[in-house]
Amino acid sequence: MSKKKVAIVATGGTIAGTGQTGKTVSYQAGRVGMEEIVASIPLIEEIAQLEMHQLFNLDSNEMDEAHWLELAGCINTLTRREDIDGIVVTHGTDTLEETAYFLNLVVHTQKPIVITGAMRPATATSADGPFNLYQAVCLAVDKRAVGQGVMGLFSNTIYAGRDIQKINNYKIDAFDQRSLGCLGYMQDDKVYFYSKTFKTHTFHSVFSWQLPDSLPKVGIAYFYAGASADILDDLARNHEGIVIIGSGSGNYSTRWLDKIEALANQGILFVRASRVNEGIVFEDRIFDPQGICIPANTLSGPKARVLLMLALTLTRDPQKIREIFDQY
Ligand code: SIN
Repeated sequence: MSKKKVAIVATGGTIAGTGQTGKTVSYQAGRVGMEEIVASIPLIEEIAQLEMHQLFNLDSNEMDEAHWLELAGCINTLTRREDIDGIVVTHGTDTLEETAYFLNLVVHTQKPIVITGAMRPATATSADGPFNLYQAVCLAVDKRAVGQGVMGLFSNTIYAGRDIQKINNYKIDAFDQRSLGCLGYMQDDKVYFYSKTFKTHTFHSVFSWQLPDSLPKVGIAYFYAGASADILDDLARNHEGIVIIGSGSGNYSTRWLDKIEALANQGILFVRASRVNEGIVFEDRIFDPQGICIPANTLSGPKARVLLMLALTLTRDPQKIREIFDQY
């Protein structure tokens, strides 16, 4: 049987980083081309025919909405090709969770899309990138990965693009899926799925029908004890929506509540997320008596921002946006 074909779309990150030979710190992300990294991985060419696309070579902190749209457009073009069976995206780990969720919402395909990266640069002793990339390619050719949406692959573990989150800034096992476990595990090239997401994604997502040219501006306001509400006024000047990262279950002071009510009357849309990593943000008539804020559900603040931006490309009706937050 002929080998499947996987397109590797490289965007940069530590997986392509270089520093002092052997060391894990003080390096520059996004320096090596993906061809060079792939050439260092034994066995990878036995798994799939590879086609390399060096789209960017950035530290992922430089990624923005325009990069997301370009990346999604590139993936849509590649997945429309009959000879491509799956896609692997290499990416910096710092903002990978936002890109993963964005792609999960906008890419129009059932073909496997796997996003991976590394915590150690390519020049470190025991760099983790080559092994993650090898497993990502193995996952992208596995027929059980079809229709699972965008998946993250790190340290033998398969995560859902909606829920993957960086939870450690130091260890190589740096990701988790909040309290929702993971989709599965890998052992070398073997794939073991145990669960699947019930949230709408990729081919079935309304956002995948047509990519927008640009995204509306949505900001994030982080609440802390004693936080001034001025940040909300500042954001409201040039943003259509604001995601509040509240304390506890997405909470804030009465000063913030008064400001939220005033700005909502001027047409700003609000989503409430939480600075607590685990749990769910529900409707709350104590902290939000008028039901102004849309609860982020299990989405983190940055992921809630991604969904609010996309939702605003379709509607400004808060009830419809609530339904979108329940579904996606
Ligand atoms: C980045 O996000 O590009 C740098 C950090 C990393 O990839 O781990």
